[in-house]
Amino acid sequence: MSIPLARDGFEVTGLDISKAMLDHAAGKAQGAGVSVRWVEADCRDFNLGSTYGLVIFPFNSIAHLHDHESIEACLACVGAHLESTGRFIIDIFNPRLEILLRDSSERYPVAEYADPDGRGTVVITENNVYDSASQINRIKWYYRIGDGPGEHVRELNMRIFYPQELDGLLRSNGFTVEHKYGDCDRKSFSSGSPRQIVVARRG
Ligand SMILES: C[S@@+](CC[C@H](N)C(=O)[O-])C[C@H]1O[C@@H](n2cnc3c(N)ncnc32)[C@H](O)[C@@H]1O
Repeated sequence: MSIPLARDGFEVTGLDISKAMLDHAAGKAQGAGVSVRWVEADCRDFNLGSTYGLVIFPFNSIAHLHDHESIEACLACVGAHLESTGRFIIDIFNPRLEILLRDSSERYPVAEYADPDGRGTVVITENNVYDSASQINRIKWYYRIGDGPGEHVRELNMRIFYPQELDGLLRSNGFTVEHKYGDCDRKSFSSGSPRQIVVARRG
């Protein structure tokens, strides 16, 4: 997301806690010939020394904030970095109970693609166990790479945000929800929408 924004002439700062992700992003930005300020920081505790007209929390990243304290700390940091007329956009999937409650002994297809390092076809499958008390979905991704031996397993724990809860969290942490879209085409959010794209402002 940073690259097209920078290409359109916006001054962009990209924040992530992972140096590896930042290095990857920096390489892509360099390849695209755009300049972005990359910051290694925790979104629950950062001070960039400036305010912004727009803060975007894209592509399900808020699902990494598992407990209430983390969510509130992050929203406080975002609020402190927004200009008074600024906007905050959260982009996360709309949870589907039939996916959360799937049989965890089964495997479900995720993706299949040619390995960019030339090791053959990568096939990814997944399963998950959803804990409804903490609202954390514990997901495992299983990677098979070409004819290589065995499978690589990666764990991904995602906090599930239900639609009314997400809006309520914003309201109780000093934001007003201005728009809620169900996808990037700006259709209004509704029960069957694939995503929750919330546009909020302070106050
Ligand atoms: C779904 S990925 C999105 C990656 C990238 N920002 C993008 O939009 O394509 C979520 C990112 O959140 C980062 N992350 C997880 N916990 C974080 C935290 N507490 N503070 C900052 N970044 C965090 C991860 O390192 C990961 O890169």
